[in-house]
Amino acid sequence: MNNYIEKNRDKFLNELLDLIRIPSVSADSKFKNDMIRAAEFVRDSIANAGADKAQIFETPGHPIVYGEKIIDPSLPTVLVYGHYDVQPADPYELWNSPPFEPVIKNDRIYARGACDDKGQFYMHVKALETMLATNTLTCNIKMMIEGEEEVGSSHLETFVKANREMLKCDTILISDTSMIANDVPSIETGLRGLTYLEVEVVGANRDLHSGVYGGGVANPINVLCEMIASLKDENGHITIPGFYDNVEELTASQRAALNAAPFDLNEYKKDLSIEDVSGELGYTTIERTSVRPTLDVNGIWGGYIGEGAKTVLPSKANAKISMRLVPNQSDQEICDLFTKHFEAIAPSSVRVKIVPHHGGLPYVTPTDSIEYKAAEMAMEESFGKKPIPTRGGGSIPIVALFEQELGRKSILMGFGLDIDGLHGPNESYGLFNFYKGIETIPLFFKHYAKLKKGE
Ligand code: BES
Ligand code: MN
Ligand code: MN
Repeated sequence: MNNYIEKNRDKFLNELLDLIRIPSVSADSKFKNDMIRAAEFVRDSIANAGADKAQIFETPGHPIVYGEKIIDPSLPTVLVYGHYDVQPADPYELWNSPPFEPVIKNDRIYARGACDDKGQFYMHVKALETMLATNTLTCNIKMMIEGEEEVGSSHLETFVKANREMLKCDTILISDTSMIANDVPSIETGLRGLTYLEVEVVGANRDLHSGVYGGGVANPINVLCEMIASLKDENGHITIPGFYDNVEELTASQRAALNAAPFDLNEYKKDLSIEDVSGELGYTTIERTSVRPTLDVNGIWGGYIGEGAKTVLPSKANAKISMRLVPNQSDQEICDLFTKHFEAIAPSSVRVKIVPHHGGLPYVTPTDSIEYKAAEMAMEESFGKKPIPTRGGGSIPIVALFEQELGRKSILMGFGLDIDGLHGPNESYGLFNFYKGIETIPLFFKHYAKLKKGE
């Protein structure tokens, strides 16, 4: 099997680079045709890997690619999930090379989507090809690669609900998360949920002269800043009434295990060029970024931002606000609590409007399941070290829905690193990680089939 991977190293990489060259940005309708081209590329690659079935399912949004290889209905079935859409590459001027013209430097692929998630899901396509070419496939495989993960997976939700029978499986395998380091393999056992909304604060019915009216009429930007500032207290606790009601508090031993993972605070600060970290009092940086909920402003605008000075009292101000959620918070409930609170703290001198965007539930998976064990054994075999279970801070909203609709847990066997720069300029993915993934995935199927048989 490893012979086959070795012999096809360049072919595998060149195919991935071709996929990366398609600018499949789901958020921007300008790229609609590229989304179709990327879906066709993924369909053809699954078919060429040797699947019995590989097809495109249209949705009101971007297409979903589905393929399968059923070798024996009595064997366990693994559903592989990934996404071929990528985040917008803006701002382009911050890239050292064009985002959709991949370059290889210092054994890393630099391009948008290199890691998230093209580099990662494509490892599964090449692992399937390898297993079929070497006659070593031990499970049935279903593959679902969607095009709307980065914009909330809303049509995939409908698709999953309508195709429960087709997607029936024993477990779900996903590579769309990170490990601690190349020599410290780890597996994420949780994801945070998400509530994302946009707020607008409106004062007077038009922009005003800040000398003539200033001091007498509310300035929506000042008001918005005061409202946002009040959403956290001096200890970094979120002040929305009821926000923490359902938050799962970890036991002392769970916290100790989480904090036992290798983490160097000084390195962390140095890497980010910061003097100090910041967050909720009483929790470590590892905890703050994984098992504690957050509230962040992602963008804020209003008033005059052109050259020079313009004296104006603007009529409105806006912000995009997101909250990362942990078990057992519900994105819908948190959205309602935020809305109620934000309306309640608005002074009568302004009006506020709140528009919810996408959301998703948090997720955890136990480490004593057969599927977790199989992933652990696979990584131990390929890395020579037992992977550490960690809790991730990011979100993949469809994972909680899989559990709800398909009744199955997902295993987050990701091969990326936090330094890969997902969503930012100069995103990259290590060649080591790409090939290590292709080598490890077949080992998952091998161990999973064995463990299931002995069940
Ligand atoms: N692959 C990421 C999520 C991720 C990255 C999880 C690293 C753990 C470690 C995914 O593509 C992503 O970016 N998700 C979004 C949510 C989505 C609704 C836009 C996120 O986490 O912001
Ligand atoms: Mn992703
Ligand atoms: Mn992403």
